[in-house]
Amino acid sequence: MRERDAIESVAVVGAGTMGSGIAQVVGTAGYDVIMRDIDQERVEEGFDTIDDSLSRLVDSETLTEGQATAARDRITGTTAMADLTGCDMAIEAAVESMEIKRDIFAELDDTLDEEVVLATNTSTLSVTTIASATDRPARVVGLHFMNPVPVMKGVEIVVGEKTARETVDFADEFAMGLGKETWESDDKPGFVSNRILMPWINEGIRAYDEGVASKEDIDRGMKLGTNVPMGPLELADHVGLDICLDATETLHEELGDRYKPAYLLKRKVAAGDLGKKTGEGFYEYD
Ligand code: 3HC
Repeated sequence: MRERDAIESVAVVGAGTMGSGIAQVVGTAGYDVIMRDIDQERVEEGFDTIDDSLSRLVDSETLTEGQATAARDRITGTTAMADLTGCDMAIEAAVESMEIKRDIFAELDDTLDEEVVLATNTSTLSVTTIASATDRPARVVGLHFMNPVPVMKGVEIVVGEKTARETVDFADEFAMGLGKETWESDDKPGFVSNRILMPWINEGIRAYDEGVASKEDIDRGMKLGTNVPMGPLELADHVGLDICLDATETLHEELGDRYKPAYLLKRKVAAGDLGKKTGEGFYEYD
């Protein structure tokens, strides 16, 4: 397996909220990054997100102008999988579809040297099933970042059935080298984070739908009562209601009725009210 010290360039597949955030933190840590998405428009949107985030970090004096410029200069974009040839590591952050992820992993397996570690940012899908699309399941691991990636400290390391211990150690050291802190989860549905977070969000939505309290009081109650930065409805809007529904449906399918998605969550997604990104979820946004 490639040593972590020998890593110079990292491929990030997906330029959405998570992919662009990952590309940004990897670039900030000093690696060259190639961020790939399926069309140029998505790649450009990824760069807009990175530019916006880097300037917030400069404004808050977390980064200097020089560090932000250097990070930005290390990140290039592409739509061609072949451009990832020669990368020393890959992190996939595409949509939460097993079929798409397996196709991407099969392509990465063909494109990158066999000792290269392939990581997936999946939030609920099985790392073991994704890994089985490759001839290197021992070098496939879950590297689950939290949104917003540049700000959130935690990264979940997900250990697939065939993931080698040295791959887990590699992923752990790599994440810590990005300034993150990690925890390990077995490859069980939702891992630690979403297995617990998604029912919390789902129950918040149900409580609102069933008239337990106003949406503001549900969020205030959880923030004041448990010292979390966002209540369940605010957090659902922040993550994206479509992503919450996808994750909850996967948990429901795998773990049964206790994960049944709230009716209101389904109705909002059907109406296209996906949270901050569409201007409306449980709250309205400019
Ligand atoms: N890039 C750079 N800086 C950012 C940023 C970004 N994308 N988002 C926020 N910031 C900075 C702000 O500029 C601000 O900096 P300052 O304090 O120096 O001025 C600081 O972070 C705080 O931001 P805000 O003042 O806008 O608002 P908050 O204090 O509410 O913080 C938050 C925002 C960090 C998102 C905070 O509300 C929070 O931690 N929320 C919970 C997020 C969370 O739980 N994420 C995990 C979701 S689950 C997940 O991702 C798993 C997936 O699989 C679903």
